[in-house]
Amino acid sequence: MNIVMIGTGYVGLTTGLGFAGLGHRVACVDTDSLKIAKLDLGQAPFYEPGLDAQLKTLQDQGQIVFTTDLSSVMSGADVIMIAVQTPPKENGDADLVYVRSVAEEVGRLLDHEALIITKSTVPVGTNRVVLELIRQTMSANGRAELASLIQIASVPEFLREGAAFADFLEPDRVVIGADDDVVFATVEQMHAGIKSVFMRTSIESAELIKVSSNAFLATKISFINEIANIAEGTGADVRDIARGIGLDKRIGPLFLRAGIGFGGSCFPKDVSALKSYAGVHGYDFKLLNAVIEVNNRQRELFFKKIQSVLGTLKGRKIGVWGLAFKPDTDDIRDSAAIDLVQRILAHGAEVSVYDPKAMQNAMRVLPDEVIYTPTAMDAAIGAEALIVLTEWPEFRDVSFASLRSQMVEPIIFDGRNTLADLELSAIGFRYYGVGICDSHKS
Ligand code: UGA
Repeated sequence: MNIVMIGTGYVGLTTGLGFAGLGHRVACVDTDSLKIAKLDLGQAPFYEPGLDAQLKTLQDQGQIVFTTDLSSVMSGADVIMIAVQTPPKENGDADLVYVRSVAEEVGRLLDHEALIITKSTVPVGTNRVVLELIRQTMSANGRAELASLIQIASVPEFLREGAAFADFLEPDRVVIGADDDVVFATVEQMHAGIKSVFMRTSIESAELIKVSSNAFLATKISFINEIANIAEGTGADVRDIARGIGLDKRIGPLFLRAGIGFGGSCFPKDVSALKSYAGVHGYDFKLLNAVIEVNNRQRELFFKKIQSVLGTLKGRKIGVWGLAFKPDTDDIRDSAAIDLVQRILAHGAEVSVYDPKAMQNAMRVLPDEVIYTPTAMDAAIGAEALIVLTEWPEFRDVSFASLRSQMVEPIIFDGRNTLADLELSAIGFRYYGVGICDSHKS
């Protein structure tokens, strides 16, 4: 099939490459000319494992092209996918300005029958608005008859940053929201080669499945974080509790890692958007209020723990490991790590940081006084405390005996419990995790 993908953000680009890899011809369109010029040269705009190789292979094979000119790739498109951003407005609502403007542009240009698929995460009801906008614009441009043949499907994405290609090829499910059997069949055909559960549902259910999935996962995280807070200091260990409850098949083991809470471009935005959508429709989604509150408080509590151990931070030398909102990405959007570094700086500490991938992005948002180091060890040299904020696997490979000798004070605050099993107290560290027993044995 010929697929046009509008939007080359995280979702658009990885999904576009995914479909190109399945053998479709994909044209990716974006208004950001610099980004498109770079993509054309095979340069990925963000870090994602496997992205560079996938881009090169599919470009060499001519399976994927990049352009800023939608009109140049519209003719012959069987499927037009919308994957533009839906950023949060001040009140938490998803801002649909980009989705709407794309719909109008598609309506102006579309002169043949094609299927529209929405990949952008949108509030329930949006797909029908998009379809209506496309049809109205087509009608206003003298194509009323054709307009009535245009159909839409909501096929939400469930790709995790850092694991996008694996998630594309082996999804837990493919949810297809549509009104028409032909549309269901076309979307299933597009996914030929992917083994999964293909679920046919209404457009509205598909829209809600997407945000409900993220909201539920976020709820799990806030739940285990509250348990961690209760467990702390009691002799209980939240990692054991997570395992103990996760072995119950009805609960499951995933998304029960306690720490400084969730961040990224999806959970905070989608939880707020669902809460706000409910509110606009007169429903107080109490659970989601708490999920957000607990998540914000988690950062606050971790910061207070640091303060209660170190006292004043003014003039103190602090090493930080991790800036990305999670490992295997350079994404710092709504990263709890960035928030905590900002708090530490605001209290007058001198901060040296290391992150394997996210330092370039962090430089754009953190103050100039932050020192970026080439290795994890360098960030900790001379530090009075080390704070771990993202659980990059390489942090576990550091020689902690040598780290111990390089630090002025052997104190580690681990906001992800990623070093918790390394018995660091046995080699002289004072180790503070989240919801962990005996965390500060000296
Ligand atoms: C999330 C969903 O997992 C994807 O299914 C979805 O497609 C995507 O959002 C989206 O809507 O586009 P992502 O934001 O890439 O994916 O990252 P996750 O792996 O879900 O992690 C989100 C946040 O939760 C991270 O900050 C992570 O550190 C935190 N987290 C995750 C925890 O604090 N504890 C856990 O047990 C798991």
